[in-house]
Amino acid sequence: MCGIIGVVGGGSLAKQLTDGLRRLEYRGYDSAGIVITLPGGEMQRMRAANGKNSLADLESESQSLASADILSGIGHTRWATHGGPTLPNAHPHYDCSERLAVIQNGIVENFAELKGQLIERGHSFTSETDTEVISHLLEEEMNTGITLLEAVKIASHRMRGAMSFVAISLDAPGVLIGFKRMAPMILGTNGKQWFIASDIPAILDQASTFYHLEDDSVVSVSKDGVEVFAEDGTRAEMTEFIVDWTLESAEKAGFEDFMSKEIFEQPAALRDTLAGRLRSSGEIELDETSISNDALARINKVFIVACGTSYHAGMVAKYAIEHWTKMPVELDISSEFRYRDPVVDERTLVVAVSQSGETLDTLAALHEAKNLGAQTIAVCNVVGSSMARLADSVLYTRAGPEVGVAATKTHTAQIGALLLLALKLSRIKGQLYPNEIDDIYHELVEIPGKIEEVLEKWDFIRSVAQVFSERDRFYFIGRHVGFPVALEGALKLKEISYLPAEGYPAGELKHGPIAMLDKNAVVIAMASKTRLFEKIVSNIEEVRARDSAVIVIGNHGSESIIKEGEYFIEVPQVHPLLAPLVDVVPLQIFAYHMARIHGEDVDRPRNLAKTVTVE
Ligand code: G6P
Repeated sequence: MCGIIGVVGGGSLAKQLTDGLRRLEYRGYDSAGIVITLPGGEMQRMRAANGKNSLADLESESQSLASADILSGIGHTRWATHGGPTLPNAHPHYDCSERLAVIQNGIVENFAELKGQLIERGHSFTSETDTEVISHLLEEEMNTGITLLEAVKIASHRMRGAMSFVAISLDAPGVLIGFKRMAPMILGTNGKQWFIASDIPAILDQASTFYHLEDDSVVSVSKDGVEVFAEDGTRAEMTEFIVDWTLESAEKAGFEDFMSKEIFEQPAALRDTLAGRLRSSGEIELDETSISNDALARINKVFIVACGTSYHAGMVAKYAIEHWTKMPVELDISSEFRYRDPVVDERTLVVAVSQSGETLDTLAALHEAKNLGAQTIAVCNVVGSSMARLADSVLYTRAGPEVGVAATKTHTAQIGALLLLALKLSRIKGQLYPNEIDDIYHELVEIPGKIEEVLEKWDFIRSVAQVFSERDRFYFIGRHVGFPVALEGALKLKEISYLPAEGYPAGELKHGPIAMLDKNAVVIAMASKTRLFEKIVSNIEEVRARDSAVIVIGNHGSESIIKEGEYFIEVPQVHPLLAPLVDVVPLQIFAYHMARIHGEDVDRPRNLAKTVTVE
């Protein structure tokens, strides 16, 4: 999730840009850069790609501009999604003439197609980013003699995806042109200068008046003011809004903590993860791959390795890959895989799943898999991470940085990415027809909207958590893909509220855990409508007979399975193999509220680390 700032109206702009970028640090970044324009018709770019030190590097380099008379400038912190965290990939990106520069937050979904066309027409690219496509598209339009504003209006119609970007050109150096579509962009002013930013913190202490923009707006900002245009090119309005946040609350976008913010970011994270991955040919694209489809066709077994929440995402993938490809899938906790002589050879595909891409046990498992000659894929959230570099191929979850230690948005993004991988393998294996893949993909892209429906139950789930807040044991039960969801629900509750919680396959209840059930226990049953629905209803009866409290997560029409004193949390019904994406959300919310009710710090739970780089 990149950060954007633009300033116009003169002054000590370079420092304002880097100060603004500092305020966006919480979004995570691996490189940073600015472009400024000087009165003599000169544009200067400074960039740094030195991980967490990038901003410090940029600040010291830009000190040379401290007393410069600057007309306008744009600045960017990049959290890599397309192309590794390298200097050539750092924003701003120039066109061929280096008279125009662009920064972007979002994804140009059809960038590969556009880039191919631009190269054919003679443009040369210096980065692997989708953003550079915007610079060259604008250059091409401006070469017909139109202004940057007109060029942005036209080019924005040629790009698909959720994105906001700001462009600056030497043709009119005192003007910034912005475009917003389903990615945040706000405006602000202090009376002398105008600002464009991706987030409030970037300009919170620099601007005094703030404005929202509608989606698909094009905005032209100069020291004299602002002009806003709607998608059809006609003049449009912007809406003033009041900001009464402190810097800290602004970083959390008004949420009380990062965990709740990240739970609410799940629809956007999943949309980004799925965006543009299905080609019109029915092919699903990996991000960086050296495994050919022929090599994948020779695979006869898949082995998934992961830890913690990532392991639960891997477990969902096992059900999907086996069902859609008819290949056997083994699943291992990374720390077990390394030491147990796993049966792996060159016809095995080992998939390492990791938010960070740095978890030592998973990294070591990936090394082991490579030593054994396996084909390897990393599914991770951090571009350029150790696993991304080590694996033969990478499929990135584009969830943006996750600050809360308990993984939420990266979990649903992982499941989304792994389901895409399952579809890709089924196509290669010829087990699903292209139209079946298409249908499932289209169901998948509807899921973010279904997650939004679950998020509306936030307050209701808090009231349910309140009812059971004094109970001392929680059992999560599910069948089929409901089982990994149950495991994840229990893990979330343990991690942040420290309450004893276990996840079980519901059918296994009678083989042990049922002995623990009494009137102090709470059982949370995953009861989405699948062919196993009747069986889970029987399991709920077993629980009831032991006087334990029951909370059911189920679909519309199933409310009647609960009895007096029990609770039903409705989730939308979706394709059974996609259900974990929706069904896990109420469990995250339940764990969150339970921890808050108990007064715990949800972002920094005791004894846990976000990334475990020790064995
Ligand atoms: C730690 C974190 C968990 C995470 C696990 C695996 O235990 O606290 O939230 O699921 O590591 O991390 P990874 O980065 O490999 O997904």
